[in-house]
Amino acid sequence: MKQRYEAFVDGVERRTRAGEYFGTHDPATGELIAEVARAKSEDVDNAVASSLAACAGWRDSVPAARGRVLLDVARRIRTEAEALARLETFDTGQTLRQSRVDVETAARYFEYYGGAADKLHGETIPLGPDYLSYTRNEPFGVVGVVTPWNAPINQAARAIAPALAVGNTVVLKPAEDTPLTSLELARIAADASLPPGVFNVVPGFGAEAGAALTEHSGVRKIVFTGSVETGRAIMKAAAGRLIPLTLELGGKSPDIVFDDADLDKAAAGAWAAFTMKAGQICSAGSRLLVHSSVHDEIVERLVSFAKSTVIGPGIDDPDIGSLATRGQFEKVKSYLELGPREGARAVTGGAPATSGALSKGLFVEPTIFVDVDNSMRVAREEIFGPVLTVLKFDTDDEAIEIANDSDYGLVAGVWTRDLTRAHRVAAALEAGQVFINQYFAGGVETPFGGYKMSGFGREKGFEALKHYCQFKTVTVRI
Ligand code: NAI
Ligand code: MG
Repeated sequence: MKQRYEAFVDGVERRTRAGEYFGTHDPATGELIAEVARAKSEDVDNAVASSLAACAGWRDSVPAARGRVLLDVARRIRTEAEALARLETFDTGQTLRQSRVDVETAARYFEYYGGAADKLHGETIPLGPDYLSYTRNEPFGVVGVVTPWNAPINQAARAIAPALAVGNTVVLKPAEDTPLTSLELARIAADASLPPGVFNVVPGFGAEAGAALTEHSGVRKIVFTGSVETGRAIMKAAAGRLIPLTLELGGKSPDIVFDDADLDKAAAGAWAAFTMKAGQICSAGSRLLVHSSVHDEIVERLVSFAKSTVIGPGIDDPDIGSLATRGQFEKVKSYLELGPREGARAVTGGAPATSGALSKGLFVEPTIFVDVDNSMRVAREEIFGPVLTVLKFDTDDEAIEIANDSDYGLVAGVWTRDLTRAHRVAAALEAGQVFINQYFAGGVETPFGGYKMSGFGREKGFEALKHYCQFKTVTVRI
């Protein structure tokens, strides 16, 4: 593994002006993995200047040629997939299996948007024989992307691929806890002959490199995934220049099990919904709403999954890896303590996992709280760890009411064999996407984004392309 990473600007590794570095660690062991350049505002200035200089050439390139470069990036990600997955696992603590999925998903984003580069059409508008009116989808220019630490290469690719496909250039500020695969991605893009400056990466801290990027006058659109608090700060920065944002700010997503559901499938799905990535996923199903007649049966199944689950360093490919950051570990621990104080009861878990070698890392036992009321903080706040709150309901209306009684609205799960009920409930839920009979159903093709405090704008799918374009109407008197 490489021991030192520089910023990546103009198609090459670039030292920062101050020449300072910070460490990134393996959260399973606490060991240092690599030193990473600590970019500051002057380095962000350089990166934005480089991306600005690359704008016209990339914007005016033939869309099909842009697409071919992105397809080559996809191919090269797949060629290096295993090394990237291992690096992602060391940096994030997640299981190797999960990292392989994330790397393949990153390749899929470049493949999907590479194929889409020449397919975003404008329209002609009928005004009669004396006029020709048509629309153009034009790139913004430099897009600033700020990513979190929970799915680094996946989230980077999710933003970069569509931004580049329509002719923007990108400066990415990856999370300080997990910057490595984003820097590798920039190197891979350069290997694929992406022109210098079209995609630059400035690793560093939120308050330094992150704020410098989102406040930079050369940036014309910001894409941010992360906390509500930082989302607000970035929205304020964007307000100064009135530039558009895509914000993806997480959730407290309901997963609803009706009494007619296939209980085996629903329980397995509910388990995956809150344990995938040790619960550190924006779309986690962290509020399980269960019809009271099947509540005990579902909880029993979930507890039996917990008993047989293997927790360990991600690189050993257990069922659940470590949390990604010390801060997140402390936050999750505080909710494990809060739940019982609020009157919730842990039927399994409830503490960090500390046996043997696990004591060196940031491991938490999957935890299931029952006797939960939707007014409790453990039911309302995003915990971002392997913690499930289980709530009961008796009628469909009650399920919908509890599900929607949340500040967030990212996703929702529905488990039922009744088609009418499934679609009626799906329509009533305040969420950007609804999964029926398979939590996390969908792919890079399905548009994704939030209602309410989960954010706005859409990523993934063809829809995302429109969020990386400004729209021009041209009308000619002829
Ligand atoms: P964060 O929102 O502070 O960090 C996300 C990214 O924003 C990082 O790259 C960080 O360096 C950058 N950043 C921080 N402050 C910034 C600023 N002022 N200007 C520009 N960029 C800035 O998230 P954090 O503190 O790591 O996690 C806190 C909570 O956020 C988690 O417990 C979880 O609830 C939520 N979260 C949600 C995610 C999602 O997928 N929606 C992902 C990560 C965290
Ligand atoms: Mg933070």
